[in-house]
Amino acid sequence: MRILSGIQPSGALHVGNYFGAIRQYVALQEGNDAFYFVADYHALTSVRDAARLRGSVRDVLLDLLALGIDPDRATLFVQSDVPETTELAWLLSTVTPMGWLEKCVSYKDKVQQGLPAEHGLFAYPVLQAADILLYDADLVPVGQDQKQHLEITRDIAERFNHTYGEVFRLPKPHILEAVAVVPGLDGRKMSKSYDNTIEIFEDPKVIAKKCKRIVTDSTPVEAPKDPETDNLFQMFKLFAPAVEIAEVDRRYRAGGIGYGEVKGRLAEAIIAAFAPARERRADWEAHPARLAEVRVAAAARARQEARSVLDRARAACGIG
Ligand code: TRP
Repeated sequence: MRILSGIQPSGALHVGNYFGAIRQYVALQEGNDAFYFVADYHALTSVRDAARLRGSVRDVLLDLLALGIDPDRATLFVQSDVPETTELAWLLSTVTPMGWLEKCVSYKDKVQQGLPAEHGLFAYPVLQAADILLYDADLVPVGQDQKQHLEITRDIAERFNHTYGEVFRLPKPHILEAVAVVPGLDGRKMSKSYDNTIEIFEDPKVIAKKCKRIVTDSTPVEAPKDPETDNLFQMFKLFAPAVEIAEVDRRYRAGGIGYGEVKGRLAEAIIAAFAPARERRADWEAHPARLAEVRVAAAARARQEARSVLDRARAACGIG
């Protein structure tokens, strides 16, 4: 199956991103023809600093390579390395009713959060439809928050096909059930918008400091505690080896373990869990020419696919 998904370069990836999406992307590259890209055109709707954007694109590429996206298996590319995307977005926009975009929750949310109501932000779902339709994607693994964008993609594809003949393959959403709910430092879902994240490749000292900030109740050290309802323990369970989880679980129930100790051990567990990935990342970082090669090769592969679909669309509507 052709799998496709995009990730916005809006800062370093955090632990919630890993369990919510990246882990599944890694699994899906086995036995499928996976295309993953860094959505830098989309990022322009919120990032207005060229150096920062370039830096974020590179960081996300490095993060994904380090976390197990294998450039020999998956096509890992940068959205803007395939400028055909923007041409298709225009063709699609000519069959997209305003009303579909007006009802988009993510647009309304972003404007409410203070982003200016610009056309690019409004047309964001059309660009996303172009990303998906350009590669004849069968399956698009995304979080629940992208469900509406996927519905619009299918609606746009159907409308174009209805108008001009069968040009686009209709993609199916694959809504990712998070492997685990990852609580953030404040106990709410880990999310950049709550400012409660632990970045995967952050300096270990910062990880330790952030773990100390995790919100807990004020049960004293000696008192028994319920591991099921404690955020800190939920986090610990995601990273620690099974024997340690069992030990800490027992001591929670018996009483006599303090949150401070668990915070320290959680930090160690997170750092250990991502240590091999951290090494891989450093290795890619030390070899920028290899990274550039991967990027160029993936762009060529992606572009070849994109070109043939775009040509089909152009021919169908009488362009060129
Ligand atoms: N809008 C997606 C997000 O914010 C990113 C994205 C852009 C995407 N184009 C895509 C996801 C195409 C899947 C397919 O998460």
